[in-house]
Amino acid sequence: MATDAEKRIIELEQQIAILQDTSRQSNLVRKRYQDALAVLKEKDLALKKSNQRIEKDFDTLKRMQQELVEKEKMAALGLLVAGVAHEVNTPIGVAITSISTCNEAIRHLKKLYRAEDLSENDLEMFLETADESVRLVRESLDQAVRLIRSFKQISVDQNIDDIRQFDVCEYLSDIIRTFRSQLKKTKIQIDIECRQGMMVKTYPGSLAQILNNLLANVINYAYSPGQQGKVLIRVDLENDQLHLLFADEGKGMEEGIKERAFQPFVTTGRDKGGSGLGLNIVYNLVTQRFGGQIKLESQKGAGSRFFITLVVMVPG
Ligand SMILES: Nc1ncnc2c1ncn2[C@@H]1O[C@H](COP(=O)(O)OP(=O)(O)OP(=O)(O)O)[C@@H](O)[C@H]1O
Ligand SMILES: [Mg+2]
Repeated sequence: MATDAEKRIIELEQQIAILQDTSRQSNLVRKRYQDALAVLKEKDLALKKSNQRIEKDFDTLKRMQQELVEKEKMAALGLLVAGVAHEVNTPIGVAITSISTCNEAIRHLKKLYRAEDLSENDLEMFLETADESVRLVRESLDQAVRLIRSFKQISVDQNIDDIRQFDVCEYLSDIIRTFRSQLKKTKIQIDIECRQGMMVKTYPGSLAQILNNLLANVINYAYSPGQQGKVLIRVDLENDQLHLLFADEGKGMEEGIKERAFQPFVTTGRDKGGSGLGLNIVYNLVTQRFGGQIKLESQKGAGSRFFITLVVMVPG
């Protein structure tokens, strides 16, 4: 018969066994928990690493993209510089040839004069040559100056134009008015469709430049001299977007010109002094100065339409 004390010992031993078992189990749970934690930590580390890698890749991509944009800009600039050099080369070349001719004529005149062999006919011939040479030099230099002035306008940043608040319709009418003397020589009629009192706050000089270049093209290219013609300028303001339609009903453009019309140096009027910069300047102003868009529809014999959207501020 077990004594009470022995019973108590057995009981205690059983309790100890249970406790030991529980402790083993909790050790097991702790171990599992620690293992899981370790796995999680590893995963977390791996995630952090892959995050860092993605961030680095993204930075590299961003840098590469910036470099590409810069490279494209440089390539475009390179083409432009080559174009400028090519265009200016012609008038400067003509000027140099004319000066050389004049120089030669002076040398010949001097020789005859010193030999006391100068006839009236010689002198007249000299004066004619000198006159013609000087005229050519002046015209060529004028052309070079015109070209350089246009090149300067290509770069939007170089045109300082202060933002001002104005009534679009009134302002457009003012611009058209400055063309009155040129339009008088033609039979071109201009209609403006515009709601009165449309106030905007934007770049007036650049807007005028856009209209000027488009109007100059209508006068130079859309209609033959003396031909009746029409231009429609329709203006609409929708929130901060100023929509301009500029349409003529004239000759339109050949497909090959239309496709490249906004590129610099594309012109069909080189003989009339065109340098092919007008629409390039319009494009740069619309997209860079106004953050807008321009679309051209034109067909030979069916007129030309420019759809322009400018981002402006609307006061009040
Ligand atoms: N309204 C139009 N109708 C018909 N052809 C046009 C019209 N506007 C432009 N063009 C064509 O697009 C070409 C390019 O025009 P752009 O204004 O860029 O150059 P340009 O007028 O020839 O020279 P610049 O403007 O430098 O004096 C013109 O030479 C002409 O062939
Ligand atoms: Mg032009």
